[in-house]
This record gives sequence, structure tokens and C-alpha cells, in this order.
Amino acid sequence: MSLLATDDRNADQVAYWNGPVGERWRARQQDQDTLLAPVADLVLQRAAPSGGEVALDVGCGCGFTTIELARRVAPGGRVLGVDISGPMLARARERVPAGLPIDFIQADATAYAFEPGAADLLFSRFGVMFFAQPRKSFANIRRGLRSGARLTFACWREPQSNPWLMLPLEAASRHVPRPAPVAPEDPGPFAFADEHRVRGILEAAGFGEVRFEAVELSLDIGIGRGLEAAVETATGMGPASRALEGQPPQLQAAATSSIRAALTRYQVGDAVMLGGSIWIVTATNP
Ligand SMILES: C[S@@+](CC[C@H](N)C(=O)[O-])C[C@H]1O[C@@H](n2cnc3c(N)ncnc32)[C@H](O)[C@@H]1O
Repeated sequence: MSLLATDDRNADQVAYWNGPVGERWRARQQDQDTLLAPVADLVLQRAAPSGGEVALDVGCGCGFTTIELARRVAPGGRVLGVDISGPMLARARERVPAGLPIDFIQADATAYAFEPGAADLLFSRFGVMFFAQPRKSFANIRRGLRSGARLTFACWREPQSNPWLMLPLEAASRHVPRPAPVAPEDPGPFAFADEHRVRGILEAAGFGEVRFEAVELSLDIGIGRGLEAAVETATGMGPASRALEGQPPQLQAAATSSIRAALTRYQVGDAVMLGGSIWIVTATNP
């Protein structure tokens, strides 16, 4: 399968999500879905999809939220999951229960020609922070929405409010260099942390009634399986995994021990609980 539409400015993200990171997300799909289930529940509740609606799941990844949306819009509705990652979409396709009204498209949401005015809902769990030119991307997606359609997505707030991502990085960086700093507006997990920036992007793209709800989370990064599973989460995704990439094995081992030691303090039985913080962003298409 190949990418249907691309925007040159997102070429590095296409490479990133089709390389080892995309493969890792595919392999970790079940754990990721368990870890991030509280976010899926919240965003789905705020988006309130209902029978007969057409929804777009942007940056749908391995398809968990696409499937949940489809359960809610069926019968009569349908969901289009859009993502640039071949490996993650392959996982999404193979797990869809028979009969659910879902199409998956491997395309850059910045450039894909969405069916004009067809969708009632633009939905995303953490799939919209990776656009090089977000105003252009949202303006393009908006063309696929009918007048009065809703936008609901989740994005991470600033790094210091997300110890579940930053504590492993702090521990790892005693042994390996921190990844080169990215500017706050560069594509990445924290690109939408600043609500003023996000409001500006969405309004410039033509959305109205933009609202932000801050939600504090307590995430079990051990996914009910204890400390070693928490270490796997911390080294398998997020900023610490980026810091470990390409490092010599002995430094990776030392950094992993450091992460394990740091996480021990947060272990409660088989859970390893750390804080996170998200925005749930809602808006409407005038
Ligand atoms: C952090 S993952 C989230 C995946 C999924 N929504 C979830 O919650 O598990 C971000 C996703 O956005 C996708 N993505 C990044 N840039 C994109 C673009 N320009 N168009 C479509 N998808 C994109 C990535 O391939 C990846 O699957």
C-alpha cells in the first residue's frame, strides 16, 4: 500500500511513522490502547458521535478510536480513518470487526481530497500535532466537513505537566544525550500545548467556537503488569525512547536501569501510576 496524498513539508513525519517508530506502535498496539483508553473514553464522550453520522478519525494509527467511532455511528453512519503510517494502518485493517462501516486511507491529512462537506465530525486522539503547516492541514480537513460539523481532539499539554513522558527522559539522560531540543511549535507530541497557538491555527483555518478543556490524568504505564511493563512503555515510546535510539548497548542498558529505578517509586501493586495532562479541544465548522 502506498501513500495517496502527501505534502512535501511533512516528508520527515512520513519517514518517522513508517520507520521503526511505526513498527513499534504496531507491535505495542494492545498496550498503547490499554494505556490510552481513559483518553479515548473522554474524547469519545465529548465528541458524542451518534447513529448515522459520518466521522473522520485523523491520525487514526492502529485504529482503536476508529473502531469505537464506527460502533457509535452504525447503523447508517461511517468512519474514515486517515493516517500516513503503513505499519499502523496494517494493524488497524487486520483488527476491524466484520461489518463495521470503516474505510482506512493511507494519506497525509494536509493534502488528501476529502469528500467535500460530507462529514459531521472531525475526531482525533493525539493525531493532529505532527503537521508542519497545521493551518493548511486543518483548512484542508475542514473542506471535508459539512456546515455545523464538530471538531473534537485530544492533544498533550506542556512537558512539565506530563511526568509519565518526562520522568523516563530525565532518568535516561543521566547516561545518554537528550534528543536535540525542538522548538515548541515544531511537529511533535507537545506542538499543541499552547492553547493560544492552537486557537489561532483553528480560527485561521476557518473553525469557530474553539474551546479548551484541561484534563489531568493518572496513567498506569505498567498496564496492570508491573514494573517491567512500565519500563517497556517508557523505553518503547515517547521522548525517552527517542533518546535511546542508536545509542551503544551498554549506554542503553545503563539508561534503562536508571529508568527502572526512577519508576520503582511510582509502583503500587501491579500498577505504575504517573501523571499526564491533556487538552480536549472542541470547535465547530460555521
Ligand atoms: C501519536 S500517534 C496517535 C495514533 C492514534 N490516534 C492513537 O491514539 O493511538 C500519531 C499518529 O498521527 C499520524 N500522523 C502524523 N502526521 C499525519 C498526517 N500529516 N496525516 C495523517 N496522519 C498523520 C501518525 O502516523 C500516527 O499514527
